[in-house]
Amino acid sequence: MDYKDTIDLQNIPQHVAFIMDGNGRWAKKQGQHRLFGHAAGVESVKEVIKTAREIGISFLTMYAFSTENWSRPSEEVEGLMNLLVEAITNEVDEMHQNGVRLLTIGDIKGLPGNCYDSLMAAMERTKDNQNLTLVLALNYSARQEILEAAKKLTELVQDGSKSLDQIQEQDFAQLLQTKDIPDPELLIRTSGECRISNFLLWQLSYTELYFTETHWPDFRRDALLEAICAYQKRERRFGMVSEQIKKA
Ligand code: FPP
Repeated sequence: MDYKDTIDLQNIPQHVAFIMDGNGRWAKKQGQHRLFGHAAGVESVKEVIKTAREIGISFLTMYAFSTENWSRPSEEVEGLMNLLVEAITNEVDEMHQNGVRLLTIGDIKGLPGNCYDSLMAAMERTKDNQNLTLVLALNYSARQEILEAAKKLTELVQDGSKSLDQIQEQDFAQLLQTKDIPDPELLIRTSGECRISNFLLWQLSYTELYFTETHWPDFRRDALLEAICAYQKRERRFGMVSEQIKKA
């Protein structure tokens, strides 16, 4: 049976975020180099985008490289950067044809020049697309993002543009890199680890968390549809009681 038959197309999360974990373990299991796993992971990214378009998800955010990932062996870091440039170069035409807009969060100026240039070119090319927004988190740290927002807010208070007692949550959210992106309703982390790892700490406040043992290179269409099914069985209460949700 196709999982698609079991999901409610009227209740699709608008934004799904992913911590794509397990590329290295997947490769090791097959006696291959870690980069082989990352390359297979790119295929999963492509399939997840395709499936997301098919069922009507509007935003996907993918944790492709954290600020902590710089501590990996230089050969792996270099390989990941090359893979990123290759994937963007090979896929930008199809993304554009399919109405996919590319955005990034994180400090992309800290990436190698060729990565930065290919990302900027792809973002410029796809900026008016409206079918789906793909947000790549690259050289990203949620704590850093929050700290930068706190500094900006302090400046606004110091120069008198904002008064301290008027500041609301949405004022803070507007200073984050995700300012024009709705919070994710669902976060999926693959490969069995159950932690957030410095990803979207502000934005995940009310997000449903879904952890699966599947390694990212094996996370394909059915795995995404299965996760959506599980999400649809959850009751999102936002601090209320069950009866209030049922009445609404
Ligand atoms: C985690 O697996 C994965 C990463 C740190 C990189 C994710 C990158 C990709 C899927 C490829 C590039 C992406 C795009 C969007 C083109 P891991 O290496 O930590 O696996 P392990 O925990 O099994 O070692």
